[in-house]
Amino acid sequence: MSRFAQHFSELLFRVRGVRYSRAWIVDRLRDRQLDRELGLESSDRRSLRELGIDLPESVDYQPVSYSDFRVILNSITVTPDDVFLDLGCGMGRAVCLAAFYPFRSIIGVEISPELCSIAKENIARIRNRLRCSDIEIVNANANAYDIPPEVSVVFFFNPFGGAIMSAVLGRVAESARQRPRSLRLLFYGTAAATVFRKEAERYRWLRFCTELKLPTGAAALIYEVNGASV
Ligand SMILES: C[S@@+](CC[C@H](N)C(=O)[O-])C[C@H]1O[C@@H](n2cnc3c(N)ncnc32)[C@H](O)[C@@H]1O
Repeated sequence: MSRFAQHFSELLFRVRGVRYSRAWIVDRLRDRQLDRELGLESSDRRSLRELGIDLPESVDYQPVSYSDFRVILNSITVTPDDVFLDLGCGMGRAVCLAAFYPFRSIIGVEISPELCSIAKENIARIRNRLRCSDIEIVNANANAYDIPPEVSVVFFFNPFGGAIMSAVLGRVAESARQRPRSLRLLFYGTAAATVFRKEAERYRWLRFCTELKLPTGAAALIYEVNGASV
């Protein structure tokens, strides 16, 4: 799906329901307040083109909603053996929020060096309040990133589509083949989730678990990697 089509379907989703739009605006204001309270700088949207990155299948930066993210993570079991990976971590909001859960370690991968620097500053500002302090930010294109064998939860918030997504899913499969394990994939963002649901039918090794309806009206899909058929 092109960047224009992704933005357009997000926009359609936003204007379709006044009820959801209002919830979304209130949520954005609350998120800014939470950023201030935590000392994070993660609320402003950033265009990848302005950041010097021109990849048609990559989607611009916008942060996950605090309340939606909490519902998503509360819906899965997190143990001290789990390792969280955010592919397209931007300014690191999801990475920081995941660190309030008992993950063993957390990795954020981001294509923009500037967003990586902001993510690192954000982590440094709240590190002493976090439950998980083993956090790494990697500046890379996700399609060239080898998924470490310890990773057990992968979060996608509408980071890219098309060939990049196919390549990344290939890397997920490769990682699961090398080290068979429980691996959960979380897809957030209504437009992205709708697109992904169609694409996922092609991958027999992905088992659909559930769809979450979230406080802002957005959706998230949770899949499990079916180790036996990878
Ligand atoms: C919608 S934002 C999500 C930000 C973050 N995950 C969060 O939830 O707050 C998508 C992010 O993916 C990044 N991105 C896009 N294409 C990428 C790629 N090929 N590799 C790594 N990051 C990418 C963008 O720069 C952007 O920061």
